[in-house]
Amino acid sequence: MLTEKPAWRSLRAHFDEIESLHIRDLFAADEQRFESFSLEACGLFFDFSKNRITRETLRLLLLLAEESELERKREALFSGQPINNTENRPALHTVLRQRSDQSVRVDGRDVLVDVREELDRMREFSNAVFCGAVTGSTGRAFTDVVNIGIGGSFLSAVVVCDVLKPYAKTGLGVHFISDVDGKEAVDVLDTLNPETTLFIVSSKTFDTQETMTNARTVRQWLNTALGNDDAWLRHFVAVTAHEERALAFGIEQGCIFRIWDWVGGRYSLWSAIGLPVVLYAGMEQFEQLLEGAYAMDCHFRQTPPESNMPVIMALLGIWYIDFFDSDAQAILPYDRHLQRLPGYLQQLEMESNGKSVTRQGQAVDYETVPVVWGQSGTNGQHAFYQLIHQGTRLIPADFIAPMRSSYDVGDHHAILLTHFFAQTEALMTGRTATEVRQDMESAGFDKADIDRLLQHRVFAGNRPTNTIVFPELNARTLGSLLACYEHKVFVQGVIWDINSFDQWGVELGKMLARGILPELMGKDISDNHDSSTRGLIRYYRRHACRPKQSSS
Ligand code: F6P
Repeated sequence: MLTEKPAWRSLRAHFDEIESLHIRDLFAADEQRFESFSLEACGLFFDFSKNRITRETLRLLLLLAEESELERKREALFSGQPINNTENRPALHTVLRQRSDQSVRVDGRDVLVDVREELDRMREFSNAVFCGAVTGSTGRAFTDVVNIGIGGSFLSAVVVCDVLKPYAKTGLGVHFISDVDGKEAVDVLDTLNPETTLFIVSSKTFDTQETMTNARTVRQWLNTALGNDDAWLRHFVAVTAHEERALAFGIEQGCIFRIWDWVGGRYSLWSAIGLPVVLYAGMEQFEQLLEGAYAMDCHFRQTPPESNMPVIMALLGIWYIDFFDSDAQAILPYDRHLQRLPGYLQQLEMESNGKSVTRQGQAVDYETVPVVWGQSGTNGQHAFYQLIHQGTRLIPADFIAPMRSSYDVGDHHAILLTHFFAQTEALMTGRTATEVRQDMESAGFDKADIDRLLQHRVFAGNRPTNTIVFPELNARTLGSLLACYEHKVFVQGVIWDINSFDQWGVELGKMLARGILPELMGKDISDNHDSSTRGLIRYYRRHACRPKQSSS
């Protein structure tokens, strides 16, 4: 067990020694701290100097990685071993963006061939849409594409489309329907012309209730709007690992793009799940995204742990989660194009590592992934920064920003970055009582008010942050950034000895929901429910209008 490893025990002792150290003093003691605790890879600059660490901390964390056999397990990832041990599958998202011709075999088959074939199909299809060779049922070219999918079948694509807006030159609008809340579908469909809209049903299983419900609703909407029951056929393509289910839904063979069971949903952006990105921003942009991710794969695979960006990010997380007992990790991008990044990372991190048993099924006796949350700055500053500055909890934060903005609006970006830099400095240095007293005396406060307000205005500081910056936000840097977080999640899973690639925790809710639906429709309410659930279903039946049976 992890907690019995020698490095873990050394870290526990080391924590007792350095817990009370202040980062401000660590900077004062080492003029080279910024240079020593920062690194650059794939165009990303990673400053981790504002952390509660010393060189000895890093040495011990790296030792923990070594004792966890990180490098052997990293090779198992890249070489297609069945590291997803509960589903007996590889996790080969790296092959999806692989630029080298090194074959990778799964069950004897070189999957790189399949990946390349599907990328070619995406390129050909998108070109046919752009040139009008592929049109809607009335012969008009497509003007909009709607992705119908949820979780890993949408969250990454929406981030990438947000980021690539300044580079999107295809002329198509992109939209996303993910939630089964009918408002989302209505809000999207209300803005669209059925004749010129293409729908992508993205679902690895082609069995997710929300997605299939939305797909049926859209199919009906199209047929009604276009006046015949086959009109929808020219407006639907599918992305799935279950071709037979897409065929059963009625989608034609040539309109089905393949993904595979050896790629996890939340790691599938780089596959045909990225089709909305291609149709919105173009294949060249998508290739740049793959290039960026591949560059990070090479960095992660070839760089010694002590200079390895995902490894250092992962180890710093372990330090706070398992030794400082921090139960949250903030993602604070200072660029509106990245406003959906926290939501994507929530699934990537918490669906991967929100586990409490080891790969062997033993209950862990240590913390695993915390709550991952965040919001783009500076809105967050006016919402929750009070807590991260003066609250009782330690909340490590990743601050992320490009140095150049895609939008040249006066001095807005410079002002945005002043906050970006100031916040990590403030979180680290804090403000001592002496400094606050001086501030208040200089501002003319009288002694009584100073004594009364002093403690309210003191900032303890010592609040750790990582800063990730890059010259500009484009497809390539985004690909590297997202791949960096994928590998960070992998490294933490290795150290926690958990399976980062299954998600059994999502199944129970889905199963219970399927049993409740007929009870909302009027079927007898099962006595198996607790009294709360029974009472709430009865409340629903008293107050809700009878839902129409969803169109099958
Ligand atoms: O959230 C559970 C989950 O299975 C995710 O892992 C997945 O990304 C999402 O649902 C959608 O699944 P599918 O792509 O099969 O519709």
